[in-house]
Amino acid sequence: PEETLVLVKPDGVQRNLVGEIIARIERKGYTIVDLKMVTATRGMLEKHYEEHEGKPFFEPLVEFMGSGPVVAIRLGGDRVIEGFRALAGKTDPTVAAPGTIRGDLGRDWGAGVQKNLVHGSDSTLSAERELAIWFG
Ligand code: GTP
Ligand code: MG
Repeated sequence: PEETLVLVKPDGVQRNLVGEIIARIERKGYTIVDLKMVTATRGMLEKHYEEHEGKPFFEPLVEFMGSGPVVAIRLGGDRVIEGFRALAGKTDPTVAAPGTIRGDLGRDWGAGVQKNLVHGSDSTLSAERELAIWFG
């Protein structure tokens, strides 16, 4: 079946929300195929976020994502790419819908939308590319 890369970002790990976030994913019915905790290198993050290179938030984003461990998950299920992004909610946690991970658990902590708890691949191409970075 389809697979996607989910990351619980450093803010989610720091706030002890790993269990809560994984519980939501499991209750939805998706399959955790592989999972690990990892502190990303700068090289991994530059690759992961290459589409955002040159944007004003790129540098702070790479710094934030390397500031502590993340939980990387290879998640499987039919239409899981679209389905996880629906579970996660809009990028900006301030306005993400209640019922979503970002909407229920996130807010603005002073750096705009940066600390939004989770990442999910946005297409089959991104998923393949990102899974290779995080899981080889
Ligand atoms: P991801 O699943 O993490 O990729 O989120 P997304 O697809 O909803 O957002 P996008 O790919 O556009 O941006 C990647 C990440 O960069 C976001 O999740 C935020 O953490 C951060 N980000 C995006 N836009 C901004 C911005 O305008 N300012 C800041 N500081 N961070 C941003
Ligand atoms: Mg994205």
